[in-house]
Parts: sequence; C-alpha cells; structure tokens
Amino acid sequence: MNKNKTILFSRQAIEGAVLRLAKQINADYKARPVVLVGILKGSFVFLADLIRKLDLDVTVDFAVLSSYGSATTSSGQVKMIKDLSAPIEGKDVLVVEDIVDTGITLKYFMDVLRQRRPASLAICTLIDKKARREVHIDVDYVGLEIEDGFIVGYGIDCNEEFRNLPEIWVIREEAEK
Ligand code: PRP
Repeated sequence: MNKNKTILFSRQAIEGAVLRLAKQINADYKARPVVLVGILKGSFVFLADLIRKLDLDVTVDFAVLSSYGSATTSSGQVKMIKDLSAPIEGKDVLVVEDIVDTGITLKYFMDVLRQRRPASLAICTLIDKKARREVHIDVDYVGLEIEDGFIVGYGIDCNEEFRNLPEIWVIREEAEK
C-alpha cells in the first residue's frame, strides 16, 4: 500500500489553534487549579504545546486508551491500557485529546471519570471530526474542525507511523500496481 499525503494544517495553523484554545482555557479557569488529563498516545504533542501556553496552576496525568487496532477504522471497543496515577475527586479536570472521531473513546472515558466525582469535567480537542460521530459527546474546546478523511501528524498515527510530523496531513491509501 502506498500512502499519498497532503498537508491539511500547517505548523502556523496548528500554532494559532493552540493559542486560541489556551486563551479560552486561561480565561475560563482563571485562578482555579486544573488537572490536565492527556489521552495517550495521540495527545502527547498537542498537550506539550498547550500546557506551555497555560497561565494556570496545572498538574498533568495520563491515561492510555486504545480504540483502533492496526486498521484505519475504529474497532468500537475501547481498552484502558493505563489508568490515571492519582484520584480526581473534587478536582477540576480537563481531558485533552488530539482528535474526536466517532466519540466512542471519549464516551467511555468520560463515563469512567464522572464516577470518580471530579468538581468539574471538560474536554479539549485539537481536532473535531463531527461528520463521523456515532455517540453524543459535549466537547467544550475545539481547535480545528475537519470533514471525513484520515489524518496523521502532530501526534496522530497510522499504524504507529507519522506521529512525528510537525504538520497535520491527510492520507489517501492506494493499492500498489
Ligand atoms: C485515536 C485518538 C482518539 C481516538 C478518537 O486514538 O487519539 O483517542 O482515536 O477516536 P474515536 O472518537 O473514534 O473513539 P487511538 O485509539 O488510535 O490510539 P492512539 O491515541 O494511541 O493513536
């Protein structure tokens, strides 16, 4: 399989989106301490950029979730590979995602987190792919919206490849001749 790629969001476009999100989050949380929860692996690049733009009292935790196997479509099954390392009861929690697609990953994770009684629970995603949503999710902060199309780069992979690309690209897979 050959993978043809074209740039969808440049470094500047991503930087602009991250800055806009950080300004909104800074304004909304003001002096309140916030626990940023990154969903790995995809969110690590976005979270690293976002956190350096936050003028807040911030702590960070991670969960490792996986909904895709090796294919480019969701299996519909979410696996918690690693849970958070600390309790979130009574805390203001902001979940940070690279992309919301079907919404299945976040639906599962938000249900798990809600049972732990955080003071507040919100979602920040860099990319929202609304057209493919299968379950309802309230996303509080959206950086960039896209239509259908398989994207890679800036932490997002295809079969674990391409996470290191600084831009966000669209992939078209074509059978080799
Ligand atoms: C990707 C992405 C989101 C999820 C979104 O993760 O990082 O967590 O899929 O898809 P959904 O809205 O259809 O559930 P993936 O399971 O590919 O793992 P990764 O973060 O390790 O790449």
